[in-house]
Amino acid sequence: MPSDLRTLLVRPATIDDVDTLHRFSVDLATYEDEPDAVGSTPQTLARDGFGENPQFAALIAERAAKPVGFILYTFNYSVWTAARGIFIEDIWVIPEERRGGVARALMRALARECVAKGYKRIDLNVLDWNPARGFYERLGYRWIRNWLPYRLSGEALAALASSSSKGS
Ligand SMILES: CC(C)(COP(=O)(O)OP(=O)(O)OC[C@H]1O[C@@H](n2cnc3c(N)ncnc32)[C@H](O)[C@@H]1OP(=O)(O)O)[C@@H](O)C(=O)NCCC(=O)NCCS
Repeated sequence: MPSDLRTLLVRPATIDDVDTLHRFSVDLATYEDEPDAVGSTPQTLARDGFGENPQFAALIAERAAKPVGFILYTFNYSVWTAARGIFIEDIWVIPEERRGGVARALMRALARECVAKGYKRIDLNVLDWNPARGFYERLGYRWIRNWLPYRLSGEALAALASSSSKGS
């Protein structure tokens, strides 16, 4: 194959990529043993990522115009750093392209965006069994051992919201 067809391009996702973003998100959830976890559809991704007030952004890696991987991320803010940060929701490289530098190229592009815009951190969660931990550590990510993820959702969220105030 000519070398130009092997060239990897990393670019911001657009509304035209919502089918790809959805497919890759489902592929990742399936890999994580949660095949039914993705409640998004291409339509909600178009609404929530590419409307007036985008809730996420994404980068697509492609070779010869074929998507081979992606990162989907959201933004946060820290009063400790007094700056925005990035939370990686999803990163996925199609199996036949793995160990070829695709994910590193996606991460490099994201790191460049952070540096250019003054964002101070990139955070993510990874399942304890996932060999992707080796990938993250290779790139310089470190496991923060003394912080545990907590979440309020579903019935517990509704219960707290509907509880009555004490002592008032
Ligand atoms: C994790 C994943 C994104 C890595 O993508 P990739 O394109 O294969 O990674 P790269 O080829 O860019 O690797 C970059 C570096 O990490 C290393 N690396 C990649 N996967 C690794 C692994 N499983 N264990 C240890 N090191 C790894 C590579 O050797 C490479 O090191 P080098 O630059 O010194 O040669 C890919 O394996 C994947 O999609 N996995 C399934 C989805 C997943 O687990 N996503 C993360 C959810 S939290």
